[in-house]
Amino acid sequence: MSYDGRIMRRAQQRFEEDRKAREESFRRKEEAIWTKEPRLREIDRELRSTMSRIIASALHRGTDPRPAVAVLRDQNLNLQQEKKELLRGLGLSEDYLDEKPNCPLCGDTGFRGAAVCRCLREYYAREQKKELSALLNLGVQSFDTFSLDWYSSRTSPEMGMSPRENMEIIYEVCANYAHTFFLKSGNLLLYGAPGLGKTFLSACIAREVSDGGFSVVYDTAGHIFSRLEAKKFGREDDAAETNRIFESDLLILDDLGTEMTTTFIVSALYEVVNTRLLTGKATILNTNLTPPEIPTRYSPQIASRIEGEYRILPFFGDDIRRLKKEREQ
Ligand SMILES: Nc1ncnc2c1ncn2[C@@H]1O[C@H](COP(=O)(O)OP(=O)(O)OP(=O)(O)O)[C@@H](O)[C@H]1O
Ligand SMILES: [Mg+2]
Ligand SMILES: [Zn+2]
Repeated sequence: MSYDGRIMRRAQQRFEEDRKAREESFRRKEEAIWTKEPRLREIDRELRSTMSRIIASALHRGTDPRPAVAVLRDQNLNLQQEKKELLRGLGLSEDYLDEKPNCPLCGDTGFRGAAVCRCLREYYAREQKKELSALLNLGVQSFDTFSLDWYSSRTSPEMGMSPRENMEIIYEVCANYAHTFFLKSGNLLLYGAPGLGKTFLSACIAREVSDGGFSVVYDTAGHIFSRLEAKKFGREDDAAETNRIFESDLLILDDLGTEMTTTFIVSALYEVVNTRLLTGKATILNTNLTPPEIPTRYSPQIASRIEGEYRILPFFGDDIRRLKKEREQ
């Protein structure tokens, strides 16, 4: 799992805020009970002091600390017992004043050893979603709102099937890809004419993979290339931004082929595609180019990697943008 430092910092901030809020509400609850039963406040104070005396005795050198610790332990147990009885007397459960962590896996630290705990991962996913939403229409674009009704059932003679049958397959592949991203991700090339749902479907994938706690970078090829170019000329002040292009669990490059092709872009695309293949990171490319156009526009090396390592999904049918507009009139 690879995390973007900037998003992770925001996630940890929210995580910490929530933890503090829970702690404060626990203090208020405690205070309310102590007001009702002041003896409980004393017990709490005494328990704290026996605890620190136990620790001090255990650390004391030269004498055998065991007898002293045993006495303190008995005192401690008696106090615990008294506390339980008082709580029961108030009609509360014995553990009402025990502070339990929200996440038993990590004790609310957010980490299990060096690994990020699932509780903090949820915060990360939420922050990332906010970021992706700024770029994508994530409010509406999801596998649930994707409709097959825009695709005609008339068989296309050259494709040997109808756009709708084709989309049923593509939808299945994309939904599966997103659902099983944690097991096997792989790469996809979505190509076809404008307005056929390539951006829509890749947004659905971005949403679901990101909800699963994976890091996702989504941007147009043009933006990604200009960031890489800025970095090359030392204009990019945030190196982490360009590292994400190589290191995110999933990179979605939208509108590949709409940028002006330069030698810089050809080598940048090669570097992105190749590095991500070598490090086993998943990539999705969306383009209006057809596969035979890729080697001439970019390079045979790029085309060969796509052909060999990407699942190729051809989109065909009627432009949904146009259909929607016609329907409005
Ligand atoms: N299956 C669908 N159900 C509902 N709306 C859709 C569907 N597919 C696409 N749309 C809508 O149609 C429009 C065009 O879709 P989209 O942007 O995904 O096309 P595209 O294939 O990425 O086109 P381009 O190649 O021009 O980028 C968008 O407004 C999108 O929300
Ligand atoms: Mg698009
Ligand atoms: Zn946790």
